[in-house]
Amino acid sequence: MNNLPQSPKLRLTAVTKSFVTPRTGHRTQAVAEISLNIQSGEFICIVGPSGCGKSTVLNMIAGLDQPTSGVIEKDGHGISEPGADRGVMFQDYALMPWQTVEENVGFGLRHGTPGHDMNKEQRKLRVTHFIDLVGLRGSEHKYPHQLSGGMRQRVALARLLANGPDILLLDEPLGALDAQTRLILQAELLRIWGETSSVSERKTAIFITHDIEEAVLLADRVVVMSSHPGRVREVVSIDLPRPRAGTARTNPRFGVLVEQIWSLIRDEAYRAIGGDESFARPNEETTA
Ligand SMILES: Nc1ncnc2c1ncn2[C@@H]1O[C@H](COP(=O)(O)OP(=O)(O)OP(=O)(O)O)[C@@H](O)[C@H]1O
Ligand SMILES: [Mg+2]
Repeated sequence: MNNLPQSPKLRLTAVTKSFVTPRTGHRTQAVAEISLNIQSGEFICIVGPSGCGKSTVLNMIAGLDQPTSGVIEKDGHGISEPGADRGVMFQDYALMPWQTVEENVGFGLRHGTPGHDMNKEQRKLRVTHFIDLVGLRGSEHKYPHQLSGGMRQRVALARLLANGPDILLLDEPLGALDAQTRLILQAELLRIWGETSSVSERKTAIFITHDIEEAVLLADRVVVMSSHPGRVREVVSIDLPRPRAGTARTNPRFGVLVEQIWSLIRDEAYRAIGGDESFARPNEETTA
């Protein structure tokens, strides 16, 4: 799929971002010279040590922030502001606690451009469709505090999809969930993204995670970043067959890919937490 001659859905060209701290004038170069083409319908995962600029890249694609230099284009047009065509989802639900599931999911349709041409009935049908799709039928009238963490992320996903974006920007969306809920939602995400559908029916997805197994399970390609400043270290194609939900982890190739990606970020990941990777290799001889 990566060799298709079509023009990319997203093109990042030499994207660099620096932040300046207003009080001290100190400049941090968050990411440098990121160039990447992403095709329509591709599922891209970004992994890399904490602070390497993953969220910075995603926020610039979302239009929440601008590159210091370089260009980000979607369908050949520069991105300058947020838009309903790019839906963003973060780790921390960001639901409105005073609104029900139904009201949360319909928020963008009531207040944003996606629902402009719809009457109340059409909006309601659309909201119901996406509540069904994420498996929350029966919870329409509940409030966020009445839901588990996994259910809240389902609401956030339904709200995102109800706005009809063609690019999903997901910043560690499953990061706060317990391990079992996470496994279930990974499979759900693959289903909703359309791994059993044709590529043309899939949305383009960019998904940040610290979990390498999650990245290998989900992605067509994994972008491995390194830090200080954040750069693309390597792009690893995940050549596991789809559909993967439920089966991919038993494929011997799965473990090979996980190890390949871990070996690319291991040293930096240890440094990022102030540790020494020799702790992880107890059988290797160390010199006194
Ligand atoms: N608004 C900001 N102002 C100043 N510095 C920032 C800002 N946002 C990010 N940075 C800096 O840019 C670098 C990259 O941050 P970013 O949040 O993109 O990393 P990340 O890879 O998403 O990290 P994590 O895995 O911990 O979420 C860090 O050094 C961070 O401190
Ligand atoms: Mg981040």
